[in-house]
Amino acid sequence: MTSLQEKQSIKNNQFNKEDWSSAYQNVELELENKNLEVTQGNSIKELNGTLFKNGPGILERDGQWLHHPFDGDGMISAINFKDGKATFTNKFVKTKGYLEEKKKNKFLYRGVFGTQKKGGILNNVLDLNFKNIANTHVIKLGDELLALWEAAGPHALDPKNLETIGLTTLKGVLKKNEAFSAHPKIDLNSKYSKEVLVTFGVQTGPQSTIRLMEFSNKGNKAGEILFDRKDKLNGFAFLHDFAITTNWAIFLQNAIDFNPLPFVMGQKGAAQCLKSSPNKKAKFFIVPRDSGLYRGKPPVIIDAPEGFVFHHVNAYEDEENIVLDSIFYDDFPSVGPDEDFRDIDFEKYPAGKLKRSIINLKSRYSELSTISEQTCEFAVINPKFTGIKATHSWMACTNAKSGNAPLQAIKKINLDTKEEIFWSAAPRGFVSEPIMVPKTNSKKEDEGYLLILVWNGARRGSDLIILDSKNLEHLSTYELPINIPHGLHGSWSNNEED
Ligand code: CO
Repeated sequence: MTSLQEKQSIKNNQFNKEDWSSAYQNVELELENKNLEVTQGNSIKELNGTLFKNGPGILERDGQWLHHPFDGDGMISAINFKDGKATFTNKFVKTKGYLEEKKKNKFLYRGVFGTQKKGGILNNVLDLNFKNIANTHVIKLGDELLALWEAAGPHALDPKNLETIGLTTLKGVLKKNEAFSAHPKIDLNSKYSKEVLVTFGVQTGPQSTIRLMEFSNKGNKAGEILFDRKDKLNGFAFLHDFAITTNWAIFLQNAIDFNPLPFVMGQKGAAQCLKSSPNKKAKFFIVPRDSGLYRGKPPVIIDAPEGFVFHHVNAYEDEENIVLDSIFYDDFPSVGPDEDFRDIDFEKYPAGKLKRSIINLKSRYSELSTISEQTCEFAVINPKFTGIKATHSWMACTNAKSGNAPLQAIKKINLDTKEEIFWSAAPRGFVSEPIMVPKTNSKKEDEGYLLILVWNGARRGSDLIILDSKNLEHLSTYELPINIPHGLHGSWSNNEED
């Protein structure tokens, strides 16, 4: 893009692709407890805890770029707030693969999203050995901080300095390197513990097994498993996320096929071998939580709407219905083998839309409606409302109301009335998943703070921006001391009481 075109697009409040793609660079530094200064607005004394974020921190080695950023090694950022002061720490998850590749300064493993080793097909054929990249989510369980990647086991980190302790079996609950989802849910309304972490692992094949686990996450039993069950479902299952209610865990088995041949033959990454299947029907696979009323009962299977879902927003029970909000794509979005992820055509790429499924457990029927047509991803709710009815959701969305483009704005939507308000970082800012931190002493669902890592295309750096979650007023900006590539998920953890 010439600078004239660039100026023109900025004037029209449109993004330019270089501002967006410039976030994709390797993280070179690891910092510890670096003081942060507020560069705009004020510090917030009420924030007392740590924001943890995960995402790819290596995009290129020795001139070879990853095929997809989701193949990048996990790098954790932690921003701690205490008495109005903020400090920054970041470390790579020191996985076996990261350490080997860092030493040799080249990619030694194939990536699930299509990254190949150098040397063409011959050097990739029949190599099914991929590395656990620990790059998707980061969340506390007991005294350990877990870096998660769904196809393999969790890495434990020291929450104080982010040093990697190593692959963990969670006190023997998991087999070594057993698949463990990157989308645990925290249930704050359980009768078994003040805080319950509910999560799952999938073993897939012609028949798949879902292991549903519930852990206590507060008090002297924190980190101990409370409930554990396994259920089989027919067919291949690609399950990135799920949702919970008081009594159920809800999975959406997308109607896709997995043809492993191009992966085995070294031509494509495993995720590039997923394809929507016109011959299949998507299914809701609704598993009773053993902490709930239907303990020990078999799962309920109900036809689901067409479309592809990575992320759900929340679910709740409403008499005989489960109400489930999710982000639907028309098709599985994949970066083709010959495309460059830094130069994708957003308009040709499937766009995420917020939709609501009403699943009737009695008549075993589901109905889908659209809540908003605007492209969005990374939707959250007030964490106190996970599994029960939440009225408000916050999410990353495009700046324009229609079409597909990078995520540049934050939207608050009332899920009942569909009323919306916006805050936008356009034309030169690019947002990530907002993390909602409720106000300590407020009972109002929408009162709190939104913490958002923003790629500032104008200064080619990362900012932490804090918004008032009620009205999306911009409260503060911190310029961060490192550049963080567009990332994935994160969590908030309150400081322990002194
Ligand atoms: Co995810």
